Amino acid sequence: MSADTESIKQEIQAFEIGSTESLEQYRLEFLSKKGKVPALFAKMGQIPPDERKAYGLLVNEIKQIDVARQRIEASAVSHLSARDDISLPSAPVIAGLKHPITQTVDRIKDVFLRLGFSIADGPELEDDFHNFTALNFPPEHPARDMQDTFFVRKDSADPLNDLVLRTHTSPVQIRLMKEQKPPVRAIMPGRVYRNESITAKSYCLFHQVEGLYVDRNVSLAELKDTLVMFVRMIYGNDVRYQIRPSYFPFTEPSLEMDIWWGDEKNGKWLEILGAGMVHPNVLSAVDIEPEEYTGFAFGMGVERIAMLFYEVDDIRLLYDNDLRFLRQFV
Ligand code: DAH
Repeated sequence: MSADTESIKQEIQAFEIGSTESLEQYRLEFLSKKGKVPALFAKMGQIPPDERKAYGLLVNEIKQIDVARQRIEASAVSHLSARDDISLPSAPVIAGLKHPITQTVDRIKDVFLRLGFSIADGPELEDDFHNFTALNFPPEHPARDMQDTFFVRKDSADPLNDLVLRTHTSPVQIRLMKEQKPPVRAIMPGRVYRNESITAKSYCLFHQVEGLYVDRNVSLAELKDTLVMFVRMIYGNDVRYQIRPSYFPFTEPSLEMDIWWGDEKNGKWLEILGAGMVHPNVLSAVDIEPEEYTGFAFGMGVERIAMLFYEVDDIRLLYDNDLRFLRQFV
């Protein structure tokens, strides 16, 4: 008799409860009306009176084990479904993060703040004067065709009445120089628009950071130093770059800077910015005396800089807002 109870006690202790299914099995086997524990109580009457006390103690002990186990294990498994595995690590928490374009603008700002530049901005809807005329694009000047403009208002009689989505951040130079007399040293980040077909290399909107430094005796050598320092601070000291002559109506002389994309053998030059010495006509347009002051200016494409930095080869990826892509830029 007591061998019987002893073995039930051991069975209960050895029974593994790891899931809702096994808990149910445990309940059926030991606790249900037809289970082994109630059967022990039912036998009480058949036990000879002198053994009854010992039997009762044993059965009660079994009941205690049983109640305790039931409580612990029921609470541990009750909220788990059969397929849950509590040993799995928890899913990573994905916090929000800055878009790679914003991160790149932040990096560019950091560099120029360290070089003593301040930060300015201007409107995305511009008039003809700021976007073209003051920047030495006279009406009918062929250089206006370099920029595929989105017109918001077109006045065929007087182009000065035109309103455009700014095609570059250079108009902010004009606003700044009208507000502030030299020395002026600032960068102007912002969004610009071009009516171009969308390809891996070009998009209808993108970002630029304009730079301007006007003072007495500002030289082309200082412009070059600044640009070289900039690319080194962004891409590291062994960055491969080239500077070559170019043309912009608002600078003379003008130049462009390229960065090497790819490895030693397979690669190509990618243009990241235009720059030059501020054209005397531009200084005159904002009432700064070109005989007294000189300046340099530059305008860089943020997407180009980001694509080189992150090795992204299609600009459209930066605008698709696919979270699988964006989450890589933590
Ligand atoms: N505005 C030019 C563009 O969008 C870039 C540029 C070139 C800006 C030369 C400048 C500059 O300030 O000096 O293509």
